[in-house]
Amino acid sequence: MKNFDVFLSEAPSHRPEFLNLIEQTGKVHGELREQLKSESPIWDEKFFLLDKSSIWKSIDHRTKESILISLGKKILQEAYYIESAGMAYSGKMILTSRTKEERQFYCFVAEEEARHLRLLETIGEFKTGPLEVPSFASLIGEIIQESSRKCHFLLIQVLLEGWGLDYYKDLSQSALNENVSKAFKQILKDEIRHHSAGVILFSESSQMSEVEFMEFLKFLERISVMVKIGPYSVCEELFSHIPNPDLKMVREFLFETGAVTQTEKKLNLIQDLLGKVLSEEEMEIIALKKILEPMDIDSMADFLYQSIPGTYLHHPIH
Ligand SMILES: [Fe+2]
Ligand SMILES: [Fe+2]
Repeated sequence: MKNFDVFLSEAPSHRPEFLNLIEQTGKVHGELREQLKSESPIWDEKFFLLDKSSIWKSIDHRTKESILISLGKKILQEAYYIESAGMAYSGKMILTSRTKEERQFYCFVAEEEARHLRLLETIGEFKTGPLEVPSFASLIGEIIQESSRKCHFLLIQVLLEGWGLDYYKDLSQSALNENVSKAFKQILKDEIRHHSAGVILFSESSQMSEVEFMEFLKFLERISVMVKIGPYSVCEELFSHIPNPDLKMVREFLFETGAVTQTEKKLNLIQDLLGKVLSEEEMEIIALKKILEPMDIDSMADFLYQSIPGTYLHHPIH
């Protein structure tokens, strides 16, 4: 079943009757829907580990604030598309459920994902449209459209929703804005059950075939590359404010902020989540293929330097 869109555009505002109906439905489901947007930074320099960087320390307060605001917006933009993907995912799982109870469960999940998205809409402004989908969310969309049922449980619920627990907890605890903190805490409460269901349903179903396992590895490799490259968004924002950044600066930034250790922690978390449900042999194959091994600092610096707009490509030397 691939003929559906994971990310949809907004309904035109000239359909007020339908828009009113969805507002009413939200209210019936206990939604408050107050607009709680704020224009100050939501997460501080410590959250992004910027406080350890000498380049960061050298820039002025105004620039720092605008970088933190942009980084916060990026986090919300990604969460917006992840929750959008969550609605499509539950829809697909409702249709492909194998038992009545499984279908009931995914109907509940669908409602929760819709609420998560509507909750985010009260705390942020989003850029919508096909070109605005962040690459991580777009990969999730691809998994939802293309992968098998076993891979759905494993990649979406065990791995990504499991990862989300850690990430959303961090976002909630570190948010400077109380409304944002509450929103992520509320989402987290539901995601715990979504993840647990994935662990149960994956373990209960038949063993993965070789084809399914290969399909899983292919997606796992792509997910892990996005983690291995290190703090892409932070570097992208920071270095866009530095005139003529060079490779040495990027390396120094990664060194001071402990980027390799941070990445290693994230890859270990992925390993722990997969270790919950995969066999020892399957985990060994992942280890042999070095899928979850971090890059060293030089490779990370090289990669980021070459891929961040405004550094390598637009550098006068190249
Ligand atoms: Fe969600
Ligand atoms: Fe979820």
